Amino acid sequence: MLSYDEIPYTQNIYQQTQPNTLATLAILRDHLPPAILHCRVLELGCAQGNNLIAMAQTIPHGFFVGIDHSTTQIAAGNALIAQLHLVNIQLKYLDLQTITPEFGLFDYIIAHGVYSWVAPPVREKLLAICRDNLQPEGIAYLSYNTYPGWQSDEMLREILLFHLQQVTSPIERLKKAKQLLKSLSDSIAHRYDNYALSLKNKLQHLLQLPDNYFAHEHLEEYNDAVFFHQFIQQVQQYDLHYLTDLQTYMDNSLWSENSEDFIAQQQYQDFLSNRRYRETLLCRREIASPPQLNYRKIKELSLSAALKTTATLSQILSADSVSFDNFAGKTVAAVSLPSLKAVCYCLSQIYPKILNFQEIIDLIQQDYAFQVDTADEDEILHFLFNLFLTKDLELYCYPPNFCFTVSSHPVASPLARLQSLQGEAVTNLRGETFWLDKVTNLLLQSLDGQHSHSQILSRLNKQLTDNLFSPSQLQQRLKYLAAQAFLVS
Ligand SMILES: C[S@@+](CC[C@H](N)C(=O)[O-])C[C@H]1O[C@@H](n2cnc3c(N)ncnc32)[C@H](O)[C@@H]1O
Repeated sequence: MLSYDEIPYTQNIYQQTQPNTLATLAILRDHLPPAILHCRVLELGCAQGNNLIAMAQTIPHGFFVGIDHSTTQIAAGNALIAQLHLVNIQLKYLDLQTITPEFGLFDYIIAHGVYSWVAPPVREKLLAICRDNLQPEGIAYLSYNTYPGWQSDEMLREILLFHLQQVTSPIERLKKAKQLLKSLSDSIAHRYDNYALSLKNKLQHLLQLPDNYFAHEHLEEYNDAVFFHQFIQQVQQYDLHYLTDLQTYMDNSLWSENSEDFIAQQQYQDFLSNRRYRETLLCRREIASPPQLNYRKIKELSLSAALKTTATLSQILSADSVSFDNFAGKTVAAVSLPSLKAVCYCLSQIYPKILNFQEIIDLIQQDYAFQVDTADEDEILHFLFNLFLTKDLELYCYPPNFCFTVSSHPVASPLARLQSLQGEAVTNLRGETFWLDKVTNLLLQSLDGQHSHSQILSRLNKQLTDNLFSPSQLQQRLKYLAAQAFLVS
């Protein structure tokens, strides 16, 4: 077994596990989730706790408990919490198998990267905790590897485990495993048959993974995948019910002969897409409605989409069809209905502001003098839902609090400032993770509310040895950080 003390896990923050994401999906699934404002969240196998720390920072009135069975990781997380002066979070060194119902009830229980990666009895206990320590309306999040997609990774894992039978030191196992992958890849370099080509791809992929992720994903004693239908059978034994998945299939009409049996339908979709991973939300109360997401629920949510246009509203309304790009230049919507053109234009104008659905409709009606009738509204809701499914629109039941203008003494997210100091990927106040360039990383560290723009510029230019920054470049970067939800004030 590899030790998480010797090789700590990655320090990733997962937007998909944040309470806003879980509650928003529950609402779309016609389930009323616990309110986020004062939510109690338990994260099992939280590693260093960065994921939970991000939640504690964005939900100051919530209460967050993280447990992990690695002293090194918990100590590192507690040091980070002290630096950030957070008082609404506790990280504990604990074996999850010792948790009893007396540990307390939580609104959200999260176990990212735990289920497949622990021994079967620990896996059973994980589900028992979701049953015994979840509020009646609470939501549990579990990620796990799935068949059939995991089968090819499993074969490579078997090769590695076979090769490392006599090696016990975690660092040595890691070194020898990488050497083996390299020599396997070299030995089939001259082969171009389909099998060799796919194997080469896999080997290259594994060689490029960060060491700590690779070690725990591929060299651990346990990494057991399941078929989705088996997973559901198992959770049902713990009186838990399927709510939804983070990545749902767009086309639910497939295999309509099985439309009565949603789980079977999902399993067929997994076979067809060779799915290797799932992130499933579970709840304690069975939900009567069909497990599809209800696009009309967007009426209860806030939204934001990074759409861009240089055209005016009148140009847009008079054109037959209009395309809207995201900030990376990819076309995300091509619309011809006037109501959809108005909505896209509105979203492009308000970004990065987050407004609720009714505020957007009011803006369209009042500012653009465009009447939205019931049929238009349904079209709009459907359209927005599709943008959400393609990840081109964010939905929020608890909109993050960030400042989208640049103040005289800007303050950036304290967690992002610490991450940038450690040379890590940084996470914004929407829970998204970015790798910033060197200058923006340095800039972020100066945004502590103590410095004016000219002071920030001179600090920055002292740190830069070449290509000094101009005041206009500084303004550009500050605006970028504001638009990307890094600024608190
Ligand atoms: C693959 S890592 C995932 C870490 C983190 N949740 C993430 O996804 O980034 C699994 C974590 O579960 C922890 N773990 C394993 N068995 C455990 C147990 N019995 N009790 C508590 N934590 C455990 C490990 O120490 C490790 O930090």
